[in-house]
Amino acid sequence: MNSAKAEEYLRKIKEGQVPSHVAVIMDGNGRWAKKRGLPRIAGHKAGLHTLREIINCADEIGIKIMTFFAFSTENWKRPPLEVRFLMSLPEEYLQKDLPALMEKNAVVKVIGNYNRLPRRTLNAVSHALQATRDNTGLIVIFALNYGGRAEILEAVRNIAAKVARGELTPDQIDEQLLADHLYTGGIPDPDLLIRPSGELRLSNFLLWQMAYTELWFTETLWPDFKREHFLEAILEYQKRDRRFGGIKK
Ligand code: IPE
Ligand code: IPE
Ligand code: MG
Repeated sequence: MNSAKAEEYLRKIKEGQVPSHVAVIMDGNGRWAKKRGLPRIAGHKAGLHTLREIINCADEIGIKIMTFFAFSTENWKRPPLEVRFLMSLPEEYLQKDLPALMEKNAVVKVIGNYNRLPRRTLNAVSHALQATRDNTGLIVIFALNYGGRAEILEAVRNIAAKVARGELTPDQIDEQLLADHLYTGGIPDPDLLIRPSGELRLSNFLLWQMAYTELWFTETLWPDFKREHFLEAILEYQKRDRRFGGIKK
């Protein structure tokens, strides 16, 4: 695909409505590196370039919220060296890119279980959250040590504790209340999920929130994923008929 194609996509996209919230599973870094005879961590590093390009493009076309899956609760199963490298990436990325994010007026948010993140990663994250909290532009959410089931479980425990303390009654528990107790409380559900690298699964990502999300998959590996792939996904999204269980108007 070439940039002329991307410009054509862009023209078409401008005729319709862009999704408000796009979630991305950044996958395929390891295979990208393997294909080149490089260590897996080289793939993770290359993936950072894609992240930058996609954030720029999302901002350019007026998307309001981007959520990126960076590290799952299951990724701790990987070799310690790879885990350590993955944990160093938020720090590297946020330190280098915070000025650019500030310039975009972007807000950084993080979802996931913070407890197990190394101190240095936590410090970088806290700094970025603090620095961007009053910005009003694109919201960039990173899922770090995130698992959809763990998130729902934590929400249920918190709600149960409120019931036990007499702050809530069981009949006050509805979908909205549960949603408000998730890490994503207050954030609208994703309209579109993009998963590169050919895997056709959710891998425990935003299970509650993606009940009605449109899914878009591509064989392209995350480090090879470019602006034109992103625009292609948005254009495809615009052609979908979202019925939410209703019937076509
Ligand atoms: C995604 O790439 C990065 C993380 C899961 C942290 P992978 O490392 O899963 O790459 P593949 O799937 O092995 O190619
Ligand atoms: C999902 O990718 C997690 C992230 C991208 C952070 P994985 O590579 O871990 O998922 P599986 O193991 O293929 O399902
Ligand atoms: Mg993978």
